[in-house]
Amino acid sequence: MAIALTHARTARRAVPPSRAALAVVLLSAALITGCRQDMHDTPRYEALEESDFFADKRAMRPIPEGTVARGNLREDDVYYTGKVDGEVVHTLPAQITVDKALLDRGQQRYNIYCAPCHSTLGDGNGTIVQRGYKRPASYHDPRLRNMGIGYFYDVITNGFGQMPDYSAQVAPADRWAIAAYIRALQLAQAGTIDDVPAADRGVLEGGAPAAAPEASHGGGAAHD
Ligand code: HEC
Repeated sequence: MAIALTHARTARRAVPPSRAALAVVLLSAALITGCRQDMHDTPRYEALEESDFFADKRAMRPIPEGTVARGNLREDDVYYTGKVDGEVVHTLPAQITVDKALLDRGQQRYNIYCAPCHSTLGDGNGTIVQRGYKRPASYHDPRLRNMGIGYFYDVITNGFGQMPDYSAQVAPADRWAIAAYIRALQLAQAGTIDDVPAADRGVLEGGAPAAAPEASHGGGAAHD
């Protein structure tokens, strides 16, 4: 093979091409490679490269103030701050529906992120507190029981005193789920016999549940 090639080259060299033909070959070769080179190596800056064009020499331009990444516009104050005109809201934002799924999610997130300090009951005596961390107020304190639900969202978002914020760990939708679950904890701990449907009261008092559905009206409680 090598011999054959050598022969071929010698053979070509043996016939001198005319100058014009040579010029055409060289020119087209130059044009072709020129083209290919441009497409391979488009003029561009590498990340963090220096630039002579901009006064600050930075090829990567700073993002203009107020720029919002697509899908990240947080225009809805109630949903993203838990407040309206600086006051915490007393009801959940319109887009949140209270159902079992929300409370289940809230319970799961609460048990991960809050219960270590606030305890699964919300009384502020979690494991970390038992080992010396500052004890937070109980959620069953009347002050916190009457606090608007937006307050819990706000504390998760911004922290409170010694408590760090959990905005990096808990996304807005989950903050609302946790806030709703805290409300459920508060209701559970402040419940009275009047909150129990009459039909189920026997269970609490150690008896059997009432068998007939009519029995639910027997206690006279208004649970319509
Ligand atoms: C590392 C322990 C710790 C964790 C975890 C924690 N907290 Fe707290 N929290 C505290 C402490 C301590 C305070 C009281 C801070 C102070 O008074 O300086 C507090 C205060 C609060 C308050 C304000 C109570 C008041 O007196 O007004 C709320 C509401 C609250 N936490 C909610 C939460 C929620 C919701 C979570 C979970 C997302 C959470 N915390 C996670 C320790 C914690």
